[in-house]
Amino acid sequence: MQHFLEISQLTPAEISVLIQRALDFKQQFKLNQPLPQYPTYTMANLFYENSTRTRVSFELAAQRLEIQSVNLEIATSSAAKGETVLDTIQTLMAMGIQLFTIRHPEDGIVQNIADVIGDKACILNAGDGTHAHPSQALLDMMTIIETKPDVTQLKIVIVGDLKHSRVANSLQWICAQLGVKQLTLVAPDDWQPKHIHFGQVTAFFNESLHDADVIITLRVQRERFQTEDILDLSQYCRDYTLTPERLALAKPNAIVMHPGPINRDIEISSTVADGAQSVILQQVSNGVFMRMAMLASLVESAISASVKFV
Ligand code: NCD
Repeated sequence: MQHFLEISQLTPAEISVLIQRALDFKQQFKLNQPLPQYPTYTMANLFYENSTRTRVSFELAAQRLEIQSVNLEIATSSAAKGETVLDTIQTLMAMGIQLFTIRHPEDGIVQNIADVIGDKACILNAGDGTHAHPSQALLDMMTIIETKPDVTQLKIVIVGDLKHSRVANSLQWICAQLGVKQLTLVAPDDWQPKHIHFGQVTAFFNESLHDADVIITLRVQRERFQTEDILDLSQYCRDYTLTPERLALAKPNAIVMHPGPINRDIEISSTVADGAQSVILQQVSNGVFMRMAMLASLVESAISASVKFV
């Protein structure tokens, strides 16, 4: 594989291999066993949008595999002087960087960059606009499989700002690829997506929770709102905040997830976010191992194809 752009480009077998690899890395790390090392590789983090979890976990993942890493501070880089993303990448490639983790507000830009770069470097999509966030979907599925290994028996509910959520888009693809039994996508009418790939859309949260094994809450992404998206937040909270009372409608062993960052008491109540059924911090730890699996697989395919980077 040359790039990680979206889940739709992975086969179910490739997804399973990545998840297993991430679980193996987690185990090896816990037991202090040696991990693969790729000291001749360098990764650059190019984040044109804010990030804590994704950026730090890619950086840590690289460090644990002895991949050197650099973080471009976009606000103080030449991007602020008008340099295009592609020119920035080609500049960094000329310095010997082979791996680029990119987050950008524009849908599809990561794919366009990969099309131009071809096999001269590896591009990883760390979230493009409202389009895709494949590493998040992979780490979410790893976390689900850790507690509930047979996903073909699961009912998964995703609730929140579906219209703006690249996380929900990538989750639809991964659920479809792995044959999840039922995916229910819950949002108020105004935030329902125009197109869905997999699952059923509903506005009725309480009803959707019946028999749910996994509930994934999404952040209300106010920074992406257009004027037509303005929604009465108190109304939203009344109908959609995941409260202990609502959680009790799901299966007793249901797990609660959130990609972060959380708006406490908007999409999820603090009691639920910090409660016994929450695996939110497990998602965060798994994020490092999943990104290690992604980086290792790109580096290893470059090594086996004897790719000569710039
Ligand atoms: C998500 C993102 O940036 O798309 N967060 C993340 O990567 N952990 C979701 C969000 O910002 O709400």
